[in-house]
Amino acid sequence: MTPPAPVLTIDGPSGAGKGTVSRIAASRLGWHYLDSGALYRAVGVAASWADLDLSDPAALVRCTFDTSIEFRDGAEGLRVLVNGTDATGELRLETTGTLASAIAAIPEVRAALKERQRAFRRPPGLVADGRDMGTVIFPDATAKVFLTASAEERARRRHKQLKEKGVPVTFAGLLREILARDARDAQRAVAPLRPAEDAVLIDTTGLSIEAAVERVLALVPVRSV
Ligand code: DC
Repeated sequence: MTPPAPVLTIDGPSGAGKGTVSRIAASRLGWHYLDSGALYRAVGVAASWADLDLSDPAALVRCTFDTSIEFRDGAEGLRVLVNGTDATGELRLETTGTLASAIAAIPEVRAALKERQRAFRRPPGLVADGRDMGTVIFPDATAKVFLTASAEERARRRHKQLKEKGVPVTFAGLLREILARDARDAQRAVAPLRPAEDAVLIDTTGLSIEAAVERVLALVPVRSV
């Protein structure tokens, strides 16, 4: 039997640099990339388009099964189609992140997305970015990273990004949102945000993206590439 394709999991709180580091690592390795947060965000967007009651878990679970989510690699980067409509911009909004975090606390929603996430594991390999990639989705991963940064540093990075895009936000407001989201993601009963026992912790506070990528790639055994 052929062994399953190698997986590098990169988990951690929002704003730790997971997205950027994971995408660069995937491209250097020539591996596929799974942005698992985008799946939760896509379900959030679909639920809001359908005007679903967020306090009705059964409706949200149905929505999770019914929503088609497609990733397309194009000239302008990765686009995400939700039920056939390009929702890339809406997916990145802070409000969508908050919605995704609330929906992600529903155990049946997480269960419904499990196999979809595992289907991304294909040769030559996969870099999986999320909160529970190393603990729940790919417990047998080849290498596991838990990427962190102080909440202040994460708020600073996000503030800079949003200011560059012309989005009016305050640092204090962002820090508050980040702390609230961390608490919700870490305290939920199912698949809370925590490092896998065999994950390597990398703190990106004061670390350049390139340095973080180098540390991550050093954990991938040469023979699996
Ligand atoms: O990584 P992100 O900011 O795009 O994720 C949005 C939300 O989705 C996050 O607050 C928690 C949830 N999420 C999750 O519970 N499990 C994952 N593997 C990825 C994201």
